[in-house]
Amino acid sequence: MNKHISYKLDQLFVEDVAVSEMTSKMRTPFYVYSRTSIKDNFDRFTRSFKGLDSIICYSVKANSNLSVLETIAKLQGGADVVSLGEYRRALKAGIDQKRIVFSGVGKQDFEIAEALKSSLLQFNIESVSELESINKIAVSLNKQAPIAFRVNPDIDAGTHENISTGKADNKFGIPIDKAKEVYQYANKLEKIKIVGIDVHIGSQISNLNAFRQTFEHLAKLIDELKNINIHLENIDIGGGLGIKYRDEDLEPDLQEYSALVKKILGHLNCRIIFEPGRYIVGNCGILVTKVLYKKTSQNKNFLITDAGMNDFSRTALYGATHKLIPLYKKKSGKSEIFDVVGPVCESTDTFLKNYLVEGAETGDFLAFLDVGAYGAVLSSEYNTRPLVPEIMVYNKRYELVRSRPTYEEIFDRETMPNWE
Ligand code: LLP
Repeated sequence: MNKHISYKLDQLFVEDVAVSEMTSKMRTPFYVYSRTSIKDNFDRFTRSFKGLDSIICYSVKANSNLSVLETIAKLQGGADVVSLGEYRRALKAGIDQKRIVFSGVGKQDFEIAEALKSSLLQFNIESVSELESINKIAVSLNKQAPIAFRVNPDIDAGTHENISTGKADNKFGIPIDKAKEVYQYANKLEKIKIVGIDVHIGSQISNLNAFRQTFEHLAKLIDELKNINIHLENIDIGGGLGIKYRDEDLEPDLQEYSALVKKILGHLNCRIIFEPGRYIVGNCGILVTKVLYKKTSQNKNFLITDAGMNDFSRTALYGATHKLIPLYKKKSGKSEIFDVVGPVCESTDTFLKNYLVEGAETGDFLAFLDVGAYGAVLSSEYNTRPLVPEIMVYNKRYELVRSRPTYEEIFDRETMPNWE
């Protein structure tokens, strides 16, 4: 467990704040983040690449709350964004525009134009038609567009198929064996400035072998490009490092990963761009929830929580398992096996199956662990359940960093046209 999210005298704390302090003031469910953990993870990542010319462009999609981005900005981090919304968030939080890479397979003209008007680090381009669009917009704005191509190395990252991105069948990138040709074409376009190459093979990767093979492919391609006089400044190796959610999960070793990067790519005289998301924020957040009811069907016990799949959807989407722990460790009270489910009207609204929960009674508070990445960002208002709030803790203080909308605020976004 993250050392900043731990029990003190049988009570769960995030840094120096008891989670019960927050439940006494605020209706569950809500997310709580530890700012110190984000800083620690970021520092650890930076330290392990000491000596390498590199830049960490935090992948905003993992957790885009402005308070998280502000934390990254203070650490001189950059950002990997995939929409104009994320781009504006990054700028608003104080991230330097020259440290922003714009990724994504479907960038739109207005998004490209706005990012181009300020000076971003690079566009990571995923197709020839996107290249042509960017060139056209750059010509109309009379600006040079700094670009890298995302290549698809056709490598199996050995992760869940829904978060695998580097296989030939995936929609991402241009096939690596077409890359040389595409770079040559881009070189002829008026307002395109080739600055780099990019790859991202998937997320929650624990087997470093997939990274090794990918880096080897990249190094070979970079040499081939040099031979045709195309010299790159940046090698963007994406994100994807996995974290330990369950006891049986393998945690990739950061030092080994770093050694791989240095050994295979370090001598190429390029700056390495990293786009970690989960590694930076995954273990920094919990989702606090209350037990609404317990019920027993023919052969199962159900524990019904006030958090649902609209608040946290990783289980419904990827079959992910997140540990669930009580806010108070009970001295007595029997542990029972439950299926832990939410209140949403879908059978996939199931967080855990056959899970041992310590003495949970109606009204008790529990916390799902390691939900800092791809938690709140994937939440929705399905079943007209207001968007889940977020709180950030820093040492002894805590602040609401996203509030829960009122029902009126939700309805105000909609209209009933007066048709007759
Ligand atoms: N760069 C690119 C181009 C990406 O597409 C992603 C994640 C990242 C970086 C950051 O990857 P990370 O370091 O966080 O693994 N919702 C899924 C994960 C989707 C990942 C999408 N792309 C989940 O909850 O597991």
